[in-house]
Amino acid sequence: MAPEVKSVPQNRTESVLSKRGKHLADYQDFLVANLNKASANPFSEENPGGIVNLGTAVNRLLESDLATRLAQDDCFKFSPLNQHYYDFRGIKCLKISLSNFFARHFQPYKRVIAEKMIIFNGVSSCLDAISHVLCDPGDIIITPTPVYARIFTDVHDAARAIVEPLPLSEEEDENGQTFALKPEELERKIVSLRATGKNVRCFILVTPNNPLGDIYSAELMMELLNVCAKYEVHFVSDEIYGLSVFEGTKFTSLLSLDIPDPSRTHLLWGFSKDFGLAGLRIGVIYSFSEDVFQALSNMSLYKCTPQIVQEAAAALIEDIEWCDKFYLPLNSTRLANAYEYAASRLQSMGVQVRPAKAGLFIWGNARSLLHSPTEEDEMKLHEEALDAGVYIVPGMKLYCTTPGWFRLITSVTRKELQVGLDRLQEVLEARAKRCPEKLPDNVPNGGGDN
Ligand SMILES: Cc1ncc(COP(=O)(O)O)c(C=O)c1O
Repeated sequence: MAPEVKSVPQNRTESVLSKRGKHLADYQDFLVANLNKASANPFSEENPGGIVNLGTAVNRLLESDLATRLAQDDCFKFSPLNQHYYDFRGIKCLKISLSNFFARHFQPYKRVIAEKMIIFNGVSSCLDAISHVLCDPGDIIITPTPVYARIFTDVHDAARAIVEPLPLSEEEDENGQTFALKPEELERKIVSLRATGKNVRCFILVTPNNPLGDIYSAELMMELLNVCAKYEVHFVSDEIYGLSVFEGTKFTSLLSLDIPDPSRTHLLWGFSKDFGLAGLRIGVIYSFSEDVFQALSNMSLYKCTPQIVQEAAAALIEDIEWCDKFYLPLNSTRLANAYEYAASRLQSMGVQVRPAKAGLFIWGNARSLLHSPTEEDEMKLHEEALDAGVYIVPGMKLYCTTPGWFRLITSVTRKELQVGLDRLQEVLEARAKRCPEKLPDNVPNGGGDN
């Protein structure tokens, strides 16, 4: 399975690029390529024939409330100080605000020390940086799959670390769970890779999970942490969706646990998803290791977020009335509503929807509507949807090993979601007509509440 769209360029002069440069020039990332395609012709009231992007994980559910809050005087207040160099590791006021914010929302087991945080320009940048300081070229990072595919590229483009998938099975386990993550399988994977001479350095867990929408319990997290500690493998918890949990759901952050090997444990979080502020480019690394902090500090000049942006982010999360009492609860409610709306529409189209507890997405299975259970037909469905004006991500591009799955983003405007689902419905119905036994019993028209 080739998760990236490889396009070998024409006759590039050998000597122009380094090997690293050639590697970068020689591939096109599927998620980025499709984001660019959708952004070049986006659906809107003015451009109703444009592409509805239900593939890129953005959160637009409180977009105008965020814009209004960010337009207030305490956010982007420009001063001559913003014209100069600053502490590239992150400015003090944002780090203090973040340590208070984590204390309020992630139930830390120990006090989160503001000075130990590093602020970089997005969690992508944090993944690049942490892999750079933990791994040498060729070293192995394990991550459960399906997963946000850019983890593979983020740790490889510069750091040259290699991700080994730990595939989760779609078959139900003894507890009736699908895509279950088992600590003993992580252990087996570490042992078997080491037996072949591979240098396994790190385990990355995305929790809440993208694309599954699962939240991992404290018990499971502790077991995974203990496996990593036993084999001296770093544990990186990517919690970028940590507050994108559906109303009534409790999330367990790494910060809330009694960590067995602090020198090899690191947390990532950012403003792109929980606050729908991907354009501000803010990510944070909280490493429990002083050495890792030192190494990251020396990279910070290359990866820093502009001071004025950090100040605005600090103002947002310091405003408890707005942030904790208004924004976060409403975001949770809207995420759950958007999920419910899209899930019921998809089910009526014959798509099997996997229940989720968090995230901006639905993990759905359209295998019954594939003409053949193959990666080719899964890609064909994606292309048919794109031709019909809706972009969804095929599961195999997220390293799912069985065809038919796709990820669909629900946290867009209700109009976009509705139009996108209408278009997908037409595509699935056209498929079913070509193969009538695949038509679900009760396929209603599009629409739904607003
Ligand atoms: C699990 C995960 N980590 C990291 C990122 C990258 O986020 P950022 O916009 O902060 O670079 C994403 C974006 O989709 C993601 O889903």
